[in-house]
Amino acid sequence: MRLAVYSTKPYERPFLDAANAAAPGGSRPALELLYLDARLSASTVGLARGCPGVSIFVGDDASAPVLRELHAIGVRLLALRSAGFNHVDIEEADRLGVTVLRVPAYSPHAVAEHAVGLMLTLNRKFHRAFNRVREQNFALDGLMGFDMHAKTVGVIGTGKIGEVVCRILTGFGCRVIAADPSPNPACVALGVHYVPLADLYAQSDIITLHCPLTPATHHLIGHSALGVMKPGVMLINSSRGGVIDTRALIAALKRGAVGSVGLDVYEEEGDLFFRDLSSQPIQDDVFTRLMSFPNVLITAHQGFFTHEAVTAIAKTTIDNASAFERGDINPENRVTLGHIAR
Ligand code: NAI
Repeated sequence: MRLAVYSTKPYERPFLDAANAAAPGGSRPALELLYLDARLSASTVGLARGCPGVSIFVGDDASAPVLRELHAIGVRLLALRSAGFNHVDIEEADRLGVTVLRVPAYSPHAVAEHAVGLMLTLNRKFHRAFNRVREQNFALDGLMGFDMHAKTVGVIGTGKIGEVVCRILTGFGCRVIAADPSPNPACVALGVHYVPLADLYAQSDIITLHCPLTPATHHLIGHSALGVMKPGVMLINSSRGGVIDTRALIAALKRGAVGSVGLDVYEEEGDLFFRDLSSQPIQDDVFTRLMSFPNVLITAHQGFFTHEAVTAIAKTTIDNASAFERGDINPENRVTLGHIAR
């Protein structure tokens, strides 16, 4: 099968090529991969002509109009190179009969370790210390942090990634509390206490987000949540940008209510992330305001970016497309209407 692979970067292609070549004993023919630099959007749909399958990443647009155009040119498979599927109109895909397959789990450690890295960097100010020492400024003024030990960390969403975060933080000696409509027995066994969101906001020194972006979690962290958090709270988001209302966050930062913020995701990241824009003016004024705070640390959606995770994403994506071609898909990897009803 010919698979149009949108938004591929040079660092990703060798992993996809390796996974595609790895059919044991020639048990399946390799897919024909058409690598495209372009993001999927209404204006780039035509690049997939002649491909029954399309593979996309998190910055691609698989909204209803785009899906309709893909369907019209014969696309029947959408193979996501991600766990999250908030960028896909699942109802429209279902109506059209376009099968959506994802990578439900690759390395939860990659994202969890990145989230904890953001916490440690913000707390101990490694980024500022690095620059100072290079300028032979060995003064410690402004670099004081706090012990993570005995601090209360609130984890919102304790699925695969949230569970690993809970494990790392309990190892630090943190008191971990959590909110999740489906408590995870492994977290309970670790000593994590599930509490209502209002209590998590009121008690946490650090809050870290690991829930998916759904209608229920869109702008979960907005004016009202930010208004009841502990003064000086550290907020970490490595889930999806839309879980935080960025304008409300900026207002809270301006009044000094939030101590520090670590973001790996941003609600309008589609026009920014995964590209080198260093010689262009940034058009997004909300993002530039966010970047201007000294206590905000932003990484450009790199939580997943480890050797292990990229290897696993490539393998599952190729397996998904091959299985679709054989008519033998793994139901666990299929995104259905049931996922958005949750
Ligand atoms: P998962 O499906 O294993 O866990 C998500 C958890 O969130 C579940 O336990 C679910 O019950 C919970 N949840 C759902 N609605 C909630 C709500 N309203 N409040 C609190 N909890 C809620 O997913 P996984 O693998 O742990 O990934 C979590 C999210 O991390 C993904 O949805 C994705 O958005 C993000 N992600 C970010 C990456 C990055 O590179 N920064 C890479 C991979 C995932």
